[in-house]
Parts: sequence; structure tokens; C-alpha cells
Amino acid sequence: MVNKPFPPQAFSGAHRGTRSMLAGVMGVMVLVAFAPDAMASGGETLVKTRCVGCHRITGQPMARSKKKAPDLIWAGSKYQRPWLVAWLQDPKEKLYPVGYDFNFTRKGPHLSITAIEAQQVADFLGTLKDARVKEGEVKPGTPEELARGEALYRDHGCQNCHWTPANNKRGYKGGTSSTSLVNAGNRLQPDWVYRFNLNPDDFVPESGAYIPKPSLPEGDIFAITAYMMTFGKGK
Ligand code: HEC
Ligand code: HEC
Repeated sequence: MVNKPFPPQAFSGAHRGTRSMLAGVMGVMVLVAFAPDAMASGGETLVKTRCVGCHRITGQPMARSKKKAPDLIWAGSKYQRPWLVAWLQDPKEKLYPVGYDFNFTRKGPHLSITAIEAQQVADFLGTLKDARVKEGEVKPGTPEELARGEALYRDHGCQNCHWTPANNKRGYKGGTSSTSLVNAGNRLQPDWVYRFNLNPDDFVPESGAYIPKPSLPEGDIFAITAYMMTFGKGK
């Protein structure tokens, strides 16, 4: 958020005014000067009052089975802001097909917030960066890398647990036990996905059983990541 300089003409004449006018102008100055901070802390207050009952925003990685909701600890590195802002207002898109607690019938709709609140929340969550994620590392894949990524993704059975885009009537295929990746290219930041794929247990213990030990070469992880970033992009 940019703190726009106050236009100088706005001050002119203030010293000529009455005391109350001066007070009024000072009041406006204070409001304008603090507006950006107020936005960020508005988001922080919102998250700390309405979200942390289910979501963690600090702490060590923890398995899904021990949590009520996905961690937002590294939200600033994980989500693409436009997706986040839109989803928080209208959280229809299914992210965990069987419910995060694996109990679909118990799962009610996610709470939704207003457009202004969603911007504020995104401002605050955007500050929750993960130092382990290097920014600007993942570039769009070449056609060869994307083809290799597709083969690796299939051969490692990623679709067995993750909904994955497909050319069928539903538009996707795959198992339901974990996160839907149908819209991953619009939802997730590529650098976060790359770092996640390098060692999933660094983010969600018990999620990395599919990664061979030792892990795949970084080039392969890059190819898988680049391929995943095409999901939801209409390819
Ligand atoms: C009653 C518990 C609960 C509350 C309160 C709650 N959430 Fe959630 N949230 C969930 C669950 C469960 C999911 C998993 C998706 C689903 O089941 O809809 C989720 C998913 C999310 C996701 C997507 C996470 C991912 O990695 O897939 C975001 C972002 C999110 N919530 C943000 C928020 C914010 C911001 C607030 C507060 C304004 C909030 N949530 C309040 C339970 C909650
Ligand atoms: C045995 C089931 C299983 C398989 C197979 C699997 N995953 Fe996952 N994956 C998980 C679990 C569990 C999580 C953690 C999210 C959760 O709690 O459900 C996860 C999470 C992810 C996430 C983070 C998603 C998000 O929005 O938070 C990515 C990215 C991911 N997996 C990539 C892959 C890739 C790439 C493959 C194939 C190489 C793969 N997964 C194969 C179970 C699996």
C-alpha cells in the first residue's frame, strides 16, 4: 500500500482559519496519515478475531489430522492475492473435496466477508511471508519441461490424492483425499509450490509419502511445479 503524499494545497489557509477549522483540518490530516496503517491493522484485527479460532497464523508445521483448518502461517508466500480476495468473498470453490476434517456431511460453508474486509485481510495475510520460499525462482515452463512435468506428475500418482484438471465432462479427475489442484495456477504462488514440492513435510507433516527418498532432482521438481501452474489457466 502506497502512502500518497498529501497535496500541499490542502494545507493552504488552515493557519488562517478558526481554531475549530484548524482542529478539523488536523483531524483529516491524522486520518489520512494513518489510513494505510489502519487498513493493515484492520485486517490483522479481523483475522485475530474471526479466523484464528480455526486457522493458525504462527507455529510449527502440523499434520492435517491435528488441525481444524489449513495453516495461514505462510499465507503471504502461498496465495495469489486476486484469488484470495475473490475466494474470501465467495468461497464456493471446493478446496478439500471431502471436507478438511474428512467428514463431508459435517462441513458447512466457509464464512464469507465483504470486499473491503477481504482487501484488509489480504493486506495482513500478505505480510505473513515464509523465509524458506525464494521469490522469483519459478519461471513458466518450456513446452519440453511442461511435457516432462506432466509425465512425472502422472507417474508419481499426484492425481491419486488431488483433483487434477482433465478433458472429461466434469473437467477434472482424481482422488479426493487432499487439496483440489484444479485451480492451482490461479490460487498458488509458483515459488511456494516449488518449495512445498521440494519437501512437503516442511509444511504439512505426513503429506510427503509420495516423494521418493532421496527426493527427485530439483529439475524434476521444477518441471512438475511448472506443469501444475498451468492448472486452471484454460490449457
Ligand atoms: C469455523 C472454522 C473456520 C473459520 C472461522 C475460518 N476458516 Fe478459513 N477455512 C476453514 C476450513 C475448514 C478450510 C478448508 C476449506 C473448506 O473446507 O472450505 C478453510 C479454508 C481457508 C482458506 C484456503 C486455505 C487453503 O490453503 O486451501 C483460506 C485462505 C481461509 N480459510 C481464510 C480464512 C480467513 C481469512 C478467515 C477469517 C476471516 C477464516 N478462514 C475463517 C475453516 C475456517
Ligand atoms: C497419498 C496422497 C498424496 C499424493 C499421492 C500426493 N499428495 Fe500432495 N498432498 C497430500 C496431502 C495430505 C497434502 C496436505 C494438504 C492436506 O492436508 O490435505 C498435500 C498437499 C499438496 C500441496 C499443497 C496444496 C495446498 O493447496 O496446500 C501440493 C502443491 C501438493 N500436495 C503436490 C503434490 C504433488 C506434486 C504430488 C505428486 C508428486 C502429490 N502432491 C501427491 C497428499 C498427497
